[in-house]
Amino acid sequence: HNHIDHATVEKVEAAIAAQDTHAHLPEYEGYEAYVAQGGYSKLAELRDGGDWEQVQETVLSSGLRGLGGAGFPSGRKWGFVRGAEGPRYLAVNGDEGEPGTFKDRFYLERQPHVFLEGMLIAAWAVEAERAFIYMRDEYPAVLAILRREIKALEDAGVVDHGYIDLRRGAGAYICGEESAMIESIEGKRGIPRHRPPYVAQVGIFNRPTLVHNVETLHWVCKVCREGPEALSSVEKNGRKGLRSYSVSGRVQKPGVYLLPAGSTINDVIDAAGGMRDGHVFKAYQPGGPSSGLLPASMADVPLDFDTLQPLGTFIGSAAVVVLSDQDSARDAALNMLRFFEDESCGQCTPCRVGCEKAVKLMSADTWDQPLLEELCQAMGDASICGLGQAAPNPIRLVMKHFSEEI
Ligand code: NAI
Ligand code: SF4
Repeated sequence: HNHIDHATVEKVEAAIAAQDTHAHLPEYEGYEAYVAQGGYSKLAELRDGGDWEQVQETVLSSGLRGLGGAGFPSGRKWGFVRGAEGPRYLAVNGDEGEPGTFKDRFYLERQPHVFLEGMLIAAWAVEAERAFIYMRDEYPAVLAILRREIKALEDAGVVDHGYIDLRRGAGAYICGEESAMIESIEGKRGIPRHRPPYVAQVGIFNRPTLVHNVETLHWVCKVCREGPEALSSVEKNGRKGLRSYSVSGRVQKPGVYLLPAGSTINDVIDAAGGMRDGHVFKAYQPGGPSSGLLPASMADVPLDFDTLQPLGTFIGSAAVVVLSDQDSARDAALNMLRFFEDESCGQCTPCRVGCEKAVKLMSADTWDQPLLEELCQAMGDASICGLGQAAPNPIRLVMKHFSEEI
């Protein structure tokens, strides 16, 4: 902090402010429209003598789990952070780098204040001294909307000037990993830290930090305003709650679909208007490239947290990509590993070298399966963070379910 060049900071801030005039802003619900619908009255009510443990109970009983992909119970995080000695911070992970995921963008470009009120409720619950929003720079419209609407909140006196600190990512996938994001917020190169300690205890500038994904906070607001039933009353195939599936690939209408958490891939494809003409459903990526690919024969699994683990995969951020008979599962997996090779931060050898070796082995006419399995084992066992640990999933799933292609 002693070395900040304030003249440069002012220049950079002026340049950022000049970007406010984004040419193609989508139509969204602005501050006044949101307030007219009763927006921010819940926050005001809570700030005026609300009981944070009651709000935590509401969030817990709604069943809300972290929607960045890991599904950690959201209310429990509040307890960890609030239980640690202050000052505390809140950080929003808006990096949304998982290929195929665009649900956070969907909500921010339509209802930014639902997210912002959820964020301020969470910040109030853990008594955060400051709220950082780490936003993907590839979402210029979202950045422009947030700049404008945060200013509206400051002008209306809902937050003090500077309380919400909007930061831009610089395009590194790994900066969506929460501890790498924190390094980046601190102004350093974004590389993951070892856990424990968890960021709830040692986060931004070593202070306890509550980290939530954008959509998680959207739902914090909804369950606080509408009651836990907004999520807990929805039930399908033995699963409770709702999930925002980002759907792309060979479907008629790619987009974000809010469906019961117990939906299967067939339900998701139906919601997206069915398969594109001339395409037969062959395989699907359930939750980002780290989840690999499942064959169409496994179409009856509820796509929710926990249910996919026994199949060697997970739902993650629900980034569903649908492949057809015109696609090669082998090429898709190779593409996924090329992505990890590019995005590996390089900090640890099993991931840095492992991704590169995997790409070479997967580019051969015939895969050396025993060697690939050995490599997968080393990467899964010895990588520091989720990127290297989950990178073997596409390899293993293609060896298991699409062996005729390799
Ligand atoms: P994780 O399960 O290790 O942690 C989840 C969260 O719970 C973290 O905030 C962590 O700090 C907290 N936590 C876990 N145990 C804790 C404890 N004992 N005490 C306090 N806090 C605790 O998962 P991770 O590595 O953070 O996330 C992996 C997921 O991220 C994957 O499912 C992947 O799909 C998803 N992902 C999402 C992306 C996106 O664009 N939305 C991009 C890349 C990955
Ligand atoms: Fe970096 Fe990969 Fe190691 Fe994660 S697993 S710390 S991305 S090298």
